[in-house]
Amino acid sequence: MSASHPLRLGVNIDHVATIRNARGGDHPEPVRAALVAAEAGADGITAHLREDRRHIRDDDLIRLMDKLTIPLNLEMAATDEMLAIALRHKPHAACIVPENRAERTTEGGLNAAGMFNKLADFVGQLKEANIRVSLFIEPDPRQIEAAIRLGAPVVEFHTGQYAEVSGAARETELRRIADAAALAAKNGIEPHAGHGLTFDNVIPIAAIPQLVELNIGHFLIGEAIFGGLGDSIRQMRGLMDDAR
Ligand code: PXP
Repeated sequence: MSASHPLRLGVNIDHVATIRNARGGDHPEPVRAALVAAEAGADGITAHLREDRRHIRDDDLIRLMDKLTIPLNLEMAATDEMLAIALRHKPHAACIVPENRAERTTEGGLNAAGMFNKLADFVGQLKEANIRVSLFIEPDPRQIEAAIRLGAPVVEFHTGQYAEVSGAARETELRRIADAAALAAKNGIEPHAGHGLTFDNVIPIAAIPQLVELNIGHFLIGEAIFGGLGDSIRQMRGLMDDAR
């Protein structure tokens, strides 16, 4: 991704597709949202092609690959179907996430330690295709250790738990994420973070010095209803930059 910002912002456009799909037509168009996001200061676009295609669809991925001038980070489950799609389209990056059809969103991190053999094959094939692989994991030393052994160049820490709690529990979660980012960086892994980040909770996360990228979606798309997508992204960018 571009080095234009000290902390990169990946804008997740899945929920533009959620709104489009609610009526079955072609509006609002996720690729148009991606172009607006790029214009407003996003360093990359993130899209999750889920097995059930509930938001982003295969044709969106094709158009994103065609039209985007900033890097695309494809979130994908560790399935043979998704691996084949990633190898066919060769996005800049692929983030391997756990996926469960019954969940509303990605509810927890990948059990990289428990899926070692399967992930070793995935990470190897994606790396060989020059796709930057990231593992979406909990900020847990056991998972970082697995990522090191897997040779993953990037990990993304799930900030969902941090976003859900408050007070002392949030401080504890923040410390866990900061410690995990330091441990990953010390071992040569680029740490990213994302999930559930908003204007109200992003600053302490953005202030963690080792973090290189945040991926933010649902809040930005929701906030766009009130002030427009460009403004919601510019405001988030401003908070992230101020935290550094
Ligand atoms: N990062 C990953 C790996 C995700 O799966 C998601 C949600 O799709 C996000 C970041 C963005 O989370 P949110 O939509 O809550 O901002």
